[in-house]
Amino acid sequence: MGKLTVYRGGIYHALSPEHGEGWQDGALVVDASGTIVDCGLWQQVNQKIDLSGCEQVTLQPGQCILPGMFDLHTHLPQYQVTGCEAADLGQWLDAYILPEEARFEDTAYAAAMADVFFKQLLAKGTTTAAVFLTSHVEATTLAFETAARYGNRVVMGLNLMDRFGEGDGPEGLVRPVADLLRDTEDLYQTWHGANEGRLQYAWMPRYAASCSDPLLAGVGALYRKYPEAYCHTHISEQLGEIETVLRLFPQVETYTGVYEAAGLLGPKTLLAHGVHLSQQERARIREHQSTLVHCPSANFFLKSGRFPLKEMLADQVKLGLGTDVGAGPSLSLFDVMRDAVYMQAVGPASIGWHVPFYLATLGGAEALGMADRLGNFLPGKAADFVVAALDQIPEKNLAQDWDVDEMLPRLIYSGDCSRVVKTYIEGRLVYEKTNVGNENKYA
Ligand code: GUN
Ligand code: ZN
Repeated sequence: MGKLTVYRGGIYHALSPEHGEGWQDGALVVDASGTIVDCGLWQQVNQKIDLSGCEQVTLQPGQCILPGMFDLHTHLPQYQVTGCEAADLGQWLDAYILPEEARFEDTAYAAAMADVFFKQLLAKGTTTAAVFLTSHVEATTLAFETAARYGNRVVMGLNLMDRFGEGDGPEGLVRPVADLLRDTEDLYQTWHGANEGRLQYAWMPRYAASCSDPLLAGVGALYRKYPEAYCHTHISEQLGEIETVLRLFPQVETYTGVYEAAGLLGPKTLLAHGVHLSQQERARIREHQSTLVHCPSANFFLKSGRFPLKEMLADQVKLGLGTDVGAGPSLSLFDVMRDAVYMQAVGPASIGWHVPFYLATLGGAEALGMADRLGNFLPGKAADFVVAALDQIPEKNLAQDWDVDEMLPRLIYSGDCSRVVKTYIEGRLVYEKTNVGNENKYA
């Protein structure tokens, strides 16, 4: 176990969608390997472990410790073009997104963008992210190298497109099937499980409208051959998109059916959006134990529709939460948690912050099959955590002595507090806010 470190202060974590546990004077005890030894009320932990012998880190007033967060759907190559408005998904992709992704052919640009993106994830308190990249092998390699350097946990892979809707699509991004399948398998061999398991590989057909039948079938074969890798794609985000998909796959009745026929639905599948799924599609997704990744901020931004979160929870569909940058305007899961609450019906039956907080932490870990190691502070799990703070607006005196469960809604709804001041992965400090211009510290 080696030397123990104890973090003392407000601590909160989720135990289920509705319930969490918090301590005003809490103790999180971490061993030298970054594993949680114990977590609870300081006095009680102190009776089991002599905390006076530990290295002690005491939080400031107005700070609390939360589990590292899970962003189950985001796009590295879109970070520079967040907030670009368009009439619908198709026009937005054509006008802003594909031209920006094409720039990742330039490896110097790709390296610079990867550097910014993985640092920013840590600065937002996101310790695990499922990330869309581009179709370029070099840019994909650089993304893995950069995530390894900063210590991020990621699930990602080569973006797969061999057509674009009913057109040919942009050169460089749309590539021949055989090349894509060869390159994605090579990248899997290199990166899956690297950096002590923090880098995980995903087969990433962008969405049905960017993939031919042979490409989807090839991805299905890879998914069967390497069941330890993930599969990550988009589904049923906008009505116009669904019409295009059904025109492109006339032999299949539903959008979900396209992926199911190709063998892409399984317990390691992440499906972003799912705003307009039928009851029958929802049932198929649940039966395959695939995860729907709710991206409320992006759905607001592209006016895609309202994801029926409460119904999905009631139906016990596996769920996660995603920023979906750059359709989502913010890389902070606190913003996304807020939007998840705002998107649900108003009135007494609407959901509160507990559900999205669970989805951003323990629910994300469960969706990825990582809850035995991550997602909350049970002993034996890895110490991925953030120190969050309410200290940004002195005139509002946010840093007064709130209970930790009162701090959480304020962190979620009050977008101009500082929120994340430190981020740790496996007990190692990977980000620290310095308050000196942009010169934050990264490990
Ligand atoms: N559908 C296909 N590609 C994309 C994308 O990049 N962003 C979003 N939001 N939806 C998509
Ligand atoms: Zn997306």
